[in-house]
Amino acid sequence: MKFFVDTADTGEISELAETGLLDGVTTNPSLIHKAGRDFMEVTREICGLVRGPVSAEVVALDHEGMMREAEVLRKIADNVCIKVPLTIDGLKTCKKLTGDGTMVNVTLCFSANQALLAAKAGATFISPFVGRHDDVGFDGMHLIEDIRLIYDNYAFETEVLVASIRHPIHVLQSAKIGADVATMPPAVIRNLFKHPLTDKGIEGFLADWAKTGQSI
Ligand code: E4P
Repeated sequence: MKFFVDTADTGEISELAETGLLDGVTTNPSLIHKAGRDFMEVTREICGLVRGPVSAEVVALDHEGMMREAEVLRKIADNVCIKVPLTIDGLKTCKKLTGDGTMVNVTLCFSANQALLAAKAGATFISPFVGRHDDVGFDGMHLIEDIRLIYDNYAFETEVLVASIRHPIHVLQSAKIGADVATMPPAVIRNLFKHPLTDKGIEGFLADWAKTGQSI
């Protein structure tokens, strides 16, 4: 499973990229607002920090406007992936862009039928939002299971990118279902490394090593 980080904070991105485990980045208008930086400038910087896809979202709601914005965004770097909302205009834009060889991430997916439409539109990635689904009383992971099943039934190549991840259990469940990508806030990625028994084990080994009086 690929790991993307869901942030526009370049400090966090470069630190996580140093682990060698980061496969891409997703941003959205809220994350750009949180970063407090110029959209074009920060997106360009992020594209230089990772080799993989960097999702940059359009804000126009009509097809022509989305195409105009995509034209600007895709010139930033070869690894820019245009993010469009799951609407009729969004999917029309997706079909056009992927037909021209541009990567597209279809975002704000909340049903398996929406994911089916995105795959038919040739999306590179579909982003079902599990956390926001959980928030309104549905099990977001059921959505991932349904999408995986449908995509496998028809051998769709669209990658299932689990979004709105809130905790490591979402990551574990995504991996068990066979999702292609998980995009996570930096804190969730860091939490994946942690286990109290790992810390306790290191502490014990170091204490015993000190007693040997040796060095490597
Ligand atoms: C995905 O691409 C979105 O940017 C993101 O995962 C949304 O997550 P949120 O529900 O925590 O805002």
